[in-house]
Amino acid sequence: MINGLMTVSYIAAAILFILSLGGLSQQETARRGNAYGALGMALAIFATILGAQVTGFTLLLPAIAVGAVVGWVLAVRVEMTQMPELVASLHSFVGLAATLVGYASYLDPHAHFEGADKTIHEVEIFLGVFIGAITFTGSIIAFGKLRGSISGKPLTLPARHWLNLAGIIASIYLGYVFMNAEGTSGLTALLIMTAIAFLIGVHLVMAIGGADMPVVVSMLNSYSGWAAAATGFMLSNDLLIVTGALVGSSGAILSYIMCRAMNRSFVSVILGGFGTGGGTSAAAVEGEVVAISAADTGELLTEAREVIIVPGYGMAVAQAQGVISEITKRLRAKGIKVRFAIHPVAGRLPGHMNVLLAEAKVPYDIVMEMDEINADFPNTDAVLVVGANDIVNPSAQDDPNSPIAGMPVLEVWKAKTVVVFKRSMATGYAGVDNPLFFKENTRMLFGDAKKSVDDILAHIPA
Ligand code: TAP
Repeated sequence: MINGLMTVSYIAAAILFILSLGGLSQQETARRGNAYGALGMALAIFATILGAQVTGFTLLLPAIAVGAVVGWVLAVRVEMTQMPELVASLHSFVGLAATLVGYASYLDPHAHFEGADKTIHEVEIFLGVFIGAITFTGSIIAFGKLRGSISGKPLTLPARHWLNLAGIIASIYLGYVFMNAEGTSGLTALLIMTAIAFLIGVHLVMAIGGADMPVVVSMLNSYSGWAAAATGFMLSNDLLIVTGALVGSSGAILSYIMCRAMNRSFVSVILGGFGTGGGTSAAAVEGEVVAISAADTGELLTEAREVIIVPGYGMAVAQAQGVISEITKRLRAKGIKVRFAIHPVAGRLPGHMNVLLAEAKVPYDIVMEMDEINADFPNTDAVLVVGANDIVNPSAQDDPNSPIAGMPVLEVWKAKTVVVFKRSMATGYAGVDNPLFFKENTRMLFGDAKKSVDDILAHIPA
């Protein structure tokens, strides 16, 4: 491909990526944003493949074919509830790719750099491998934690901050050795630094507790962007630099938004040790639990004037959103005001609930963010908490020893009656007991949320 055409394609792809990010910021335009992103990526891949530097088609084309099939099958099969795990595993690929490209650039027999160019190239390699290696192992641990195969409990080794610091200082020293090595004799320093960075990645994410996992996912997203940008520098690929910077900075902004939503400082999240994901030091919760039937819940709803529905992770597991949308339609047809309250970290990934409700065709204008609706609970007759737990836990406000103390929550207990849909008295993701279940105005509707909403629908005449 002629150089000029390639540059134009890269600029077009970069614009499409920016449009994509803009589109994804709003539910109404998210589908279009996704299409822009896919188109930009297709353009970027074609322009790169057809570029003058690329010649090894016999290796490249089968690799692309295998990757495309694996990606397709994964995307078709993945459940919405497994999305965060998939995202974490994709981040690990970006990290691994950056690490491998770093080694390939260093060992490339055709690369000849002199003077300042050599120094810059080696800094790019060293940094790219360092960030890539941390992203790789950090994402694998995040994958395990999100999947539940690694405990959500933070690993708090004694002197853990010193361990990280020692790793960083050792890496800086190895960087010095690497930069001063002749030819490819810096390989040993690079290998040792990679091993250290792998350990830092494991340790950083192991130290972060269950309650902070939303921030970890977006933080690794950001790291994977910076790793891609470093790869772009190594390969002198402008588009990869731009794309990496877009992902890196949007991931960092998202991490900041998540931290704000959970009332946590970014630094304290990174330093870890928060959110137990297991036993907690919180006050023991005691009291009486009152159950309610689906028939009584149906009656409660039809007699209400104002209803708020709070969806959480359990709604996604049960796939109850379609029937909830139908219930909403029937109640609104009777003149009852129905709205949805969305907590910023409800479910297991940013925007999780919005996506499910949009899929179920719930009108956007009745889906409210936490800040827009939190003050309205005292005037609400009935609140349905469908498979949510941590995001409606009053101990975040009342119990300073709770692992989620200080996290803003939806104040559902201020409504006249709250019905909580869940299968048992089990805790949510953060592993914290929930006093909401024992409040006087709370009723528990036990069972799978899909079955419960099906039964309620049967009691609300169309
Ligand atoms: P959780 O606190 O995890 O609570 C979900 C509840 O749903 C559980 O208590 C569970 O109780 C119930 N449930 C599960 N399957 C169900 C089913 N089939 N039918 C009915 N109920 C079911 O969820 P949440 O309130 O949405 O809070 C989100 C949590 O995830 C927060 O701690 C957040 O920090 C964390 N997190 C969020 C993200 C993002 S970015 N959103 C990412 C990672 C982690 P039973 O087992 O008794 O049914």
